[in-house]
Amino acid sequence: MSAPTGTTVGEILSANLLYHASLKQEIEWLFLETLGWSRHQLITDLDYVLAPGERDQILSRLERLVKGEPLAYILGHQDFYKYRFIVSSAVLIPRADTELVVETALDYLRGRRIEGTEIQLADLGTGSGCIGLSLLMDLPKSRLWACDVSLAALEVFRKNAKALGLEGRVLDSNSDVSGNLFENIYDTIVSNPPYIARGDERLQDSVRQFEPALALFADHDGLSFYEAWIPWSFKALRESGAIVFEFGEGQGEAVLKIAQLAGFKKWTLKKDLSGKDRVLLAIKE
Ligand SMILES: C[S@@+](CC[C@H](N)C(=O)[O-])C[C@H]1O[C@@H](n2cnc3c(N)ncnc32)[C@H](O)[C@@H]1O
Repeated sequence: MSAPTGTTVGEILSANLLYHASLKQEIEWLFLETLGWSRHQLITDLDYVLAPGERDQILSRLERLVKGEPLAYILGHQDFYKYRFIVSSAVLIPRADTELVVETALDYLRGRRIEGTEIQLADLGTGSGCIGLSLLMDLPKSRLWACDVSLAALEVFRKNAKALGLEGRVLDSNSDVSGNLFENIYDTIVSNPPYIARGDERLQDSVRQFEPALALFADHDGLSFYEAWIPWSFKALRESGAIVFEFGEGQGEAVLKIAQLAGFKKWTLKKDLSGKDRVLLAIKE
């Protein structure tokens, strides 16, 4: 896509809104983020003539957007819970539903009134680190062990830990969870493992095309990571410790059964914003 020099914001904006009305929100957000503008400016400064660098950047970003690439990858970041996370195509884009994992873990830990003591956390399949690092931000005395089998994902995690000033409180491991043997160490283990059954046709095209397969798919109808990571977590937890695991639509009963078989005696299923079971909190007595 090319445009003559002297192009205004209004010209590019209106041409794109005309042809891609369904992307209105994303297109406007792309302008705001690229120019560092407020929403008010996007209404009042439509005659602003873009500098060549600004124009080229907006046009190349728009081209990626209309080809279906998620805005978070184009901008390189995504807001999650109370914080902003760097993302790349090596990590899953943090989802609003996953904030329930953070909130559930915080409620549980605050209910145990151990906030003043040093809390040991683990985040399995950490990706961008959005879950574990959000917990560290809100629990000043906590420490986190995070693992991911993808080195490219772990590099994004490290950038986020640094950007949030948390480097001194994290340890990470570029490995599968089960390659690490821990017993009676953690107060809470959080995870949003890959849980999409291979061949699930409900998956959105843009997710399948742009997000890393390693972050999405699991064997055994999407349950294989729960089968491996929940029994591992039971051993790794201290007494009265808890797991907080996200799962996919319709998987609640199966995931709960895996937790019961692993030895958990107390549990709660939490619902997401659309009223569907989404998160398992299970406590080791
Ligand atoms: C669904 S993503 C979740 C990422 C992040 N926690 C979030 O909620 O946005 C799952 C993550 O698990 C990682 N993963 C996949 N297989 C793994 C394995 N065997 N061991 C450790 N991590 C793994 C993927 O690389 C991916 O980053």
